[in-house]
Amino acid sequence: MNIAIDGYAGSGKSSIAHALAKKLGIKVLDTGAIYRGLACAYRGKFGIKITEENVLNFIKDLKVDVYFDGEIQKVVVNSKDYTPFLREEEISNMASTISAYKQLRESILNIQREFAQNNDCILEGRDIGTIVLPDADVKFFITASVEIRAERRYLQMEGQNDRPSLDEILKDIKTRDFNDEHREVAPLKVADDAIIIDTSYSTIEDSVNRMVNIVKNVGR
Ligand code: DC
Repeated sequence: MNIAIDGYAGSGKSSIAHALAKKLGIKVLDTGAIYRGLACAYRGKFGIKITEENVLNFIKDLKVDVYFDGEIQKVVVNSKDYTPFLREEEISNMASTISAYKQLRESILNIQREFAQNNDCILEGRDIGTIVLPDADVKFFITASVEIRAERRYLQMEGQNDRPSLDEILKDIKTRDFNDEHREVAPLKVADDAIIIDTSYSTIEDSVNRMVNIVKNVGR
């Protein structure tokens, strides 16, 4: 069983994927975390400015390992564990930019597909239903209004020293949405056969219950 979950940043996609996986007793691969790990490793080598020349250099000897320590997904790039840095705001922005490069995307296609081949699982990302697993058993696309997504992110960051303002977060999310939707390669879009789940006004639990019913009815 392979389930594709794509959707916007802050749509609740990740919480939903984990809750759904728990109910179904299957695994989750967070593919955004892999792009984030690549952004961290790139930053370590070239700094924050992303250029095509550097990206092409970067992917030449790339070694990416993803493994699970209990429930925690670890992302190791060129033998360095970047897991603690994946959620930095700077890395969110860099991951959005670096993920637009075709060769970089291709370099991590296999790792994602192999995981799906070897496990009953959910793959969560932006291009799972369209590119990575076009034959997934069920495809969901999770969405919510941009204002609600920004507010959720703002609340999540409560207590953080470098917490950006709500306006800054809103601006960053809009930029990331734009990048994700308008890049030439594997843009974020709803797969033809995906079921849209709008979480703007429903709880994670309600959305997940709806999705469990949909999954259980597949193939009947
Ligand atoms: O889901 P996330 O916010 O952790 O993803 C980080 C970035 O990685 C996001 O800006 C888009 C990119 N991404 C992608 O291009 N394709 C995926 N399958 C997953 C994430």
